Amino acid sequence: MDSASEFQPMPTEDDTPIVIQTQNLSKTYRTGFWLVQRVRSLSALDLTVYQGETFGLLGQNGAGKTTLLKTLLGIVRPSKGKATLLGKPLGDRKVKGRIGYLPENPYFYDYLTGWEILEFTGGLFQLPARVQKARIPELLDLVGLSVKDAKKKQLRRYSKGMLQRIGMAQALMNDPELVFLDEPMSGLDPLGRFQMREIIQSLKRQGKTIFFNSHVLSDVEKICDRVAILDKGEMICAGSLTELLGDVRSYIVKVKGGNPEILQQRLANLHFQDGLWVGVLKGEPQDFMASLRLIQAQLISINLARPSLEEFFVKQLSDRGVG
Ligand SMILES: Nc1ncnc2c1ncn2[C@@H]1O[C@H](COP(=O)(O)OP(=O)(O)O)[C@@H](O)[C@H]1O
Ligand SMILES: [Mg+2]
Repeated sequence: MDSASEFQPMPTEDDTPIVIQTQNLSKTYRTGFWLVQRVRSLSALDLTVYQGETFGLLGQNGAGKTTLLKTLLGIVRPSKGKATLLGKPLGDRKVKGRIGYLPENPYFYDYLTGWEILEFTGGLFQLPARVQKARIPELLDLVGLSVKDAKKKQLRRYSKGMLQRIGMAQALMNDPELVFLDEPMSGLDPLGRFQMREIIQSLKRQGKTIFFNSHVLSDVEKICDRVAILDKGEMICAGSLTELLGDVRSYIVKVKGGNPEILQQRLANLHFQDGLWVGVLKGEPQDFMASLRLIQAQLISINLARPSLEEFFVKQLSDRGVG
């Protein structure tokens, strides 16, 4: 990587600190016996994540999500470009103590109990025994595991959902400011996913910054402030859900008949389509319905204009000729 010291994160307009910033970040893996095959996994990524945000990175399998996470965590070396975490260049030792990480397929020592793995992690962070003793039950409570189970049950007897929870507790053992989660909902049933979303939201309430990868779009839509979509290592769009999908409360109205001049006052982007007037509602739906008689129009339909994140995602990829 180029000398990272010259790269300073840009301050934001409202002074919210930047927690993650990448500039032209790229990764090409060399594979095959002679390391001659090249797989471009990240391509010139410019990304900014602010303090306190829940940021969702989306993309199909193989899009480069895990590679980006591992690059930010210093597990994988970038081929080109620069990045900072908490204002410091990648790999800074002090920063490592301030971040948490739940890997895609967490690996555990089968014969340890949940409590022991958390103590082991606490030891890696050199947390005093008294801090560990207070924090472990707190974390178990947060992730929904009982102290009794955690003390008695070895990890080889945990279900996938329980392992995911203990992995989450492990990622939080050092009370990190910034948490990286790689597919935190994977392998969980609907209730487990709901609970994982609740955990993420409670971390957000504590002011932590959360950066997570997922291909479960409905989960992302429910909890993220901002998202970015990766496709074959390229970031094809990024923004808040409102920026990408439009206002939550925007409606598309279709009416039959009516005076176009009056309609124009109530509907933006008014146009005539298949014998109907179509436009985006300017005010409240109930006010519009109350005024139909005045407009002398018959209401055909009134629908939310905003697509789901899934519809948006599929359209973005199909516009690029994927799938
Ligand atoms: N260690 C590696 N060596 C070679 N290629 C890799 C390695 N890790 C990932 N890749 C390739 O990089 C691309 C992105 O993979 P990954 O980051 O795991 O995607 P995602 O997490 O979005 O599914 C894929 O084509 C994958 O095969
Ligand atoms: Mg992955």
